[in-house]
Amino acid sequence: MDKLVIQGGVPLTGEVRVSGAKNAALPILCAALLTPGTLRLQNVPHLRDVTTTLTLLAQMGVDVSLDEKLGVGLTAAKLHNLSAPYELVKTMRASILVLGPMITRFGEARVSLPGGCAIGQRPVDLHIKGLQAMGAQIEIEQGYILAKAGRLKGTHIVLDLVTVTGTENLMMAAVLADGVTVLENAAREPEVIDLAECLNAMGARIKGAGSDVITIEGVDELHDATHRIMPDRIEIGTFLCAAAATGGNIKLKGTRANILDAVIGKLQEAGAHVEQGEDWIRLSTNGSLKAVSLRTAPFPAFPTDMQAQFMALNSVAQGTAVVTETIFENRFMHVQELRRLGASIEVEGNTAIVQGVSALQGANVMATDLRASASLVIAGLVARGETVVDRVYHLDRGYDCIEEKLGQLGARIKRAH
Ligand code: UD1
Repeated sequence: MDKLVIQGGVPLTGEVRVSGAKNAALPILCAALLTPGTLRLQNVPHLRDVTTTLTLLAQMGVDVSLDEKLGVGLTAAKLHNLSAPYELVKTMRASILVLGPMITRFGEARVSLPGGCAIGQRPVDLHIKGLQAMGAQIEIEQGYILAKAGRLKGTHIVLDLVTVTGTENLMMAAVLADGVTVLENAAREPEVIDLAECLNAMGARIKGAGSDVITIEGVDELHDATHRIMPDRIEIGTFLCAAAATGGNIKLKGTRANILDAVIGKLQEAGAHVEQGEDWIRLSTNGSLKAVSLRTAPFPAFPTDMQAQFMALNSVAQGTAVVTETIFENRFMHVQELRRLGASIEVEGNTAIVQGVSALQGANVMATDLRASASLVIAGLVARGETVVDRVYHLDRGYDCIEEKLGQLGARIKRAH
């Protein structure tokens, strides 16, 4: 199993280019199932979750072509297998995103109940309820969702809680439904907007993406389109946290304004200096940072996917911070590992109290999920001596060439087998 070996204590400096967003790429790849035409995607990140999704689509019969410039072409002219097997779905919860497209275009789908990060129960009941409201018949048998339908019917759906992939699945199902679907209490994440823009380029009629009411007027079919995947705001946030924690000065290129304001606000509150243009962000620090309290919540509030990385930053800041996780019930697994590096963190329920320490010491730590791994890398970059992060396969699910990019910023980091 691959490990990352980090010699800490080097402030990150220099420039690096941000990759396309994992959480936009995954639903958009699945959107290819909605049309017999070809969907051409640019800026697709090089990640294990993307490879898993391409494998999943290819085994269904989607024709997949790749070019050297991070371009992917997908044609789902005919499918020979309307099934997403456990072996693929268990490694990636986002595989559930094939359900909406398959049921609406082919009237049939068999999708394993998802696995993914071990950060909580993460049911998919709202995906299922929404599809049922549109007329699908759904049964759960032996760990599989078995869905059947004639043409889905547009309807009014109020989501019980804000779900990102739930909103995306139902939006994709609604684009080929008969009539108008209104999704209320929809997720407002920028990745939902990116998906809606791609679907509209394919001929869908979606309005309101980015607000909490999305209206979708069903059409008979979708067609060829080209779409560029938006930048990854969690990758951006992770690099900014790493730069802040190490007392560095970095410029990220290929970013987009207004997609991570809550994170930038917290970095500024901590004392970092952040400047940004249309497609770049620069962060520098002046002396040590102060610990900042935060509470995760759906967009535009502070993202749960940045909680672990900010915890690493708080661990070496001055003062005490209270970090509250409201989205997932088991998302403090990095705490135990950060403590191995010398962090002072107490957990009570969904709240962690972080008391900043003056220094961390390198140690062997284990990655437990995707973003927890990123927090351990940040802590390792700050810690004195050597940190070995084991089980980096979690990191490879969601970070494109992380050790190359950090290396470009001067970090002493290498992969060992
Ligand atoms: C997406 C992101 C993930 C991020 C999360 C929250 C992708 C591929 N993944 O995950 O990186 O951490 O949003 O921002 O975009 N829930 C239910 N029933 C459902 C669906 C969700 O109870 O049917 C609950 C979940 O358990 C969780 C909350 O709703 O407590 C939010 O989850 P959700 O937004 O659905 O997360 P994902 O879409 O899986």
